Formats: sequence, structure tokens, C-alpha cells
Amino acid sequence: MTSTLSPHIITVADPAALAEAAAQRLVHRVARGDRAAVCLTGGSSPQRLYRLLATAQWRGKIPWPRVHWFMGDDRFVPQSDPLSNMGAARHAFLDQTAPPQNIHPIATDAGDPDEAARLYADELRKFYGSDRLDPARPLFDLVLMGLGGDGHTASLFPHAPALDEQERWAVGVAKAGMEPYVPRVTLTFPVLGSTREMLFLVDGADKRAILSRVLSGEDFPARRAHSDGELIWLVDRAAAPEATR
Ligand code: 6PG
Repeated sequence: MTSTLSPHIITVADPAALAEAAAQRLVHRVARGDRAAVCLTGGSSPQRLYRLLATAQWRGKIPWPRVHWFMGDDRFVPQSDPLSNMGAARHAFLDQTAPPQNIHPIATDAGDPDEAARLYADELRKFYGSDRLDPARPLFDLVLMGLGGDGHTASLFPHAPALDEQERWAVGVAKAGMEPYVPRVTLTFPVLGSTREMLFLVDGADKRAILSRVLSGEDFPARRAHSDGELIWLVDRAAAPEATR
């Protein structure tokens, strides 16, 4: 398995097509093996996908007892808070579809974000069965990612020390670089990259300028993301830079 340096861009018509295409890729990624692991993302871009997965048309395509659901980053708020990424994913599909023991939230009720990060790293290591990530045996089958207007992804913001973290699997982020300005917990690039597929979901005209800069190779956090497997940018036409439309 090789590291993908130049991203593969798939352009679809609109947010509905983006959700369908992402659902298809997810179904394909979780189809094999004794168990599968999906790392979800927050923000608005994946919400249509999440709702789709709960529909009669799609829920039957996922082997729920075998699939485990993690979160790449979360805001340090209770899951009942509307800002919670895991709360939103549970509400949209997980609570209706996934066995509770297969849902792995970041413990946002821990003492502070650093402690929550340590606990999540422990949980991930236990799930993986080792402290060392082996590129030949990725932790995740699919990692979903979003793109912020400042080029951040997960809760890895421009110029943050967390961007260079190579040892810790997850870190607390005391100060978010963008709204909502609540502390966060985020997985780090080596862990997010331990996947068979990393799939960025980007839609809307307001993302076009930043997407074009990231894809042209400017050093934004989202551009630093790598994958042990495939690295795909799934974008809708409104967000797509001219050359890829
Ligand atoms: C978060 C996210 C974050 C998000 C981007 C894009 O907790 O905010 O995980 O990284 O993916 O900010 O968000 P939108 O899809 O809302 O633009």
C-alpha cells in the first residue's frame, strides 16, 4: 500500500449527488472483513450523507453489527449540545442504526480536552490492538474529512502545533481557529491517515476559493492530510475549481 501524494478529485453535480456518492463509497469500504471502522467528521458537509444512511434505501446496505463508528474531532461540549459532532451524527443516523457498543464518541465529559484526547487515544489503540500503526494494516477503512474556510480539517487549524504531532494519536485543542470557538479534541494526521480511504467532502460556492488554493498545493492543514490508502476529494460543482468542473 502506498501513500497517495496527489489527490484524486471527483466532481459531482450537487450536495444530493455528493451524499449519494459518499454513501456508495462507504458501503463499499465496510463490505469486507470481520469488522470495519469508519471515522466520521463534523460540520455541515456530511449531514446529508448521515441522514441518507438512515433511510430505508441505504440502511440495509450496511452490515451494522460489524461496523464501528469513530469521530475525527469533536467540540468539547456534551453530546446533547447542538454543537456536538457525535451528537449530530447520532441524531442523524447512528442512534437508529448502529449497535450502541459500536459507537465510539470522544469523552467530552472528561475533565478537560487533553484528558479526553488521552482517553480516546487509549480507546483507539485498544481497538487497533497495538501502539504502533502499521501502514499495511490501517486503523480505519474510511476517514471522512471536511474543509474549513481557513483551510483547516478535523480540528487541525493553521499554524497549530498539533499539525506536526507525530506521536500522540489525539490532542486537546484549547483554542479553535474558527467558529464555533469552543475547545476541541482532534485526531492527529498520522492517525487520520491510517486508513484505506480518506474522503474529503466539500460543497458550496463559499468553499471554491479555499478549495482551489488547497488543491493547487498551498500549505494549508487540509493539504497536509495523507492516507495510507486512497485520498479522494469529493466535491460538488459549486465548490469545484474551474479546471475540475
Ligand atoms: C468541526 C469539523 C471541521 C469541519 C470543517 C468544515 O468540528 O468543525 O470537523 O473540521 O469539517 O470546518 O465544516 P463545514 O462542512 O461546516 O463547512
